[in-house]
Amino acid sequence: MDFQAAHLDGVLELCSAEGWQSLPSDPQRALRVLTCRGGRTVVAADRTLVLGFCQVLSDGEFQAYCSLLLVGANFRRQGLGRTLLLTALERAGGERLDLLAEATAVDFYRRFSHREWAGFRIYPDPVGE
Ligand SMILES: CC(C)(COP(=O)(O)OP(=O)(O)OC[C@H]1O[C@@H](n2cnc3c(N)ncnc32)[C@H](O)[C@@H]1OP(=O)(O)O)[C@@H](O)C(=O)NCCC(=O)NCCS
Repeated sequence: MDFQAAHLDGVLELCSAEGWQSLPSDPQRALRVLTCRGGRTVVAADRTLVLGFCQVLSDGEFQAYCSLLLVGANFRRQGLGRTLLLTALERAGGERLDLLAEATAVDFYRRFSHREWAGFRIYPDPVGE
């Protein structure tokens, strides 16, 4: 289902449990991130218990980017991660999805039809600082 504000606490708990600090460090900012224009965030939830979530940013036509994907440790290997990714892409729109993979998730992504490139994360700081 689509992310709603009522899912925020559950999403932040999953992030904290995984050691992801960016979203939990500022819940109001996290809410803006998870509901941003051009993004689609979907959750797998049992009532208010959030089992996993995924955010895809997209131009709505060709290119999409997976910015967040997390399934709670107790709910992995049940197909949720795959379903979340494909649902978020379908709802965001786009013919293809790019992402940067954590080393531990590489073999999960290799289960999809895919091509592999070297990935970069660019920061705006001047080089050397
Ligand atoms: C990566 C992650 C999202 C996978 O979620 P999941 O719900 O366990 O994945 P699924 O159950 O949908 O798995 C789909 C397929 O990938 C396989 N798979 C899942 N995780 C795998 C892993 N770590 N290594 C190898 N294969 C994996 C499953 O066995 C399944 O195979 P099948 O299609 O042959 O049955 C989850 O492990 C997770 O949240 N990890 C921590 C956060 C993270 O790394 N996020 C990605 C950041 S880039």
